[in-house]
Amino acid sequence: MEMKEELAYKASQIDCFLYRYLPDEAHGYQKNVFKAMNYSVTAGGKRLRPILMLETYKLFGGDSKAIYPFAAAMEMIHTYSLVHDDLPAMDNDMLRRGKPTTHAKFGEAMGILAGDGLLNYAFETALLAFDEEPDNKNIPKALKVLAKKAGIYGMIGGQVVDVEEDQQNGISRNRLNFIYALKTGALIEASMMIGAILAGATEEQVNLVEQVASKIGLAFQIQDDILDVTSDTETLGKDAGSDVKNNKITYVVFEGLERAKADVKRLTEEAIKDLEGLPYENPFLTELLKYLVYREN
Ligand code: IPE
Ligand code: IPE
Ligand code: MG
Ligand code: MG
Ligand code: MG
Repeated sequence: MEMKEELAYKASQIDCFLYRYLPDEAHGYQKNVFKAMNYSVTAGGKRLRPILMLETYKLFGGDSKAIYPFAAAMEMIHTYSLVHDDLPAMDNDMLRRGKPTTHAKFGEAMGILAGDGLLNYAFETALLAFDEEPDNKNIPKALKVLAKKAGIYGMIGGQVVDVEEDQQNGISRNRLNFIYALKTGALIEASMMIGAILAGATEEQVNLVEQVASKIGLAFQIQDDILDVTSDTETLGKDAGSDVKNNKITYVVFEGLERAKADVKRLTEEAIKDLEGLPYENPFLTELLKYLVYREN
């Protein structure tokens, strides 16, 4: 099977359990928020973070149901980050995952609340891991990573500096690195770290996984910036040219397209090399990381 098809299949496997955790939108006075939450989660998406979590879990020989609520929670947090990223006060985008953005479809207030709802519901979902394994000491460790990497020292922190970016005043290379490491790197790090933690990896191994994931996260965001200028809205399923519209100083603006492309490749090669330092292997994970360099959406 081609990697593209294999990934689509893996994404459908994620959806099998992810959908089961979603709220029942048929009942309750607040059902419009359930609808908006479910709309944004089920709109599509590559499910890359849960896939990375499960594949890292497999790499370390993990074998328990406690991983599923975490993988679902991660996709909920990622989806909420997109719902809020698209809001008029942020990137003001109208298309996401091939469909109208949540605020475009449900209104701005419901866009904000659906994001809030998904963030909180992610933790309600992750906590279900205790129902599977009440005495598993790795679950609190994984929760700590999930909470921190999603928050002000993680994804939210990166988005804060991203929206404060000011083209007039320019941006330093360190500040740009900070934005990328946090707004995108943090959730990818959390995904892979949680896979490792729940599978019982040692602290040293989890640190190595964090290092690998930070390189993958940086490469992933640089590629996202490249696609913003080289691709089109239909292929991306989101507004191409959004960064230009918002006068964003991206990695591409900073380094130029060719250097950016070379860096995606270099960072990925470095990450794969780091992974080879482990006494285990997961050939699919390695192929997936290589494939991400050439992804088209
Ligand atoms: C988009 O993430 C936001 C970034 C961090 C670049 P993805 O490209 O993983 O979006 P989906 O989940 O496939 O829609
Ligand atoms: C988003 O970066 C990172 C998030 C934490 C959502 P972008 O603003 O470049 O993501 P897209 O291009 O809208 O998906
Ligand atoms: Mg943004
Ligand atoms: Mg955006
Ligand atoms: Mg982008």
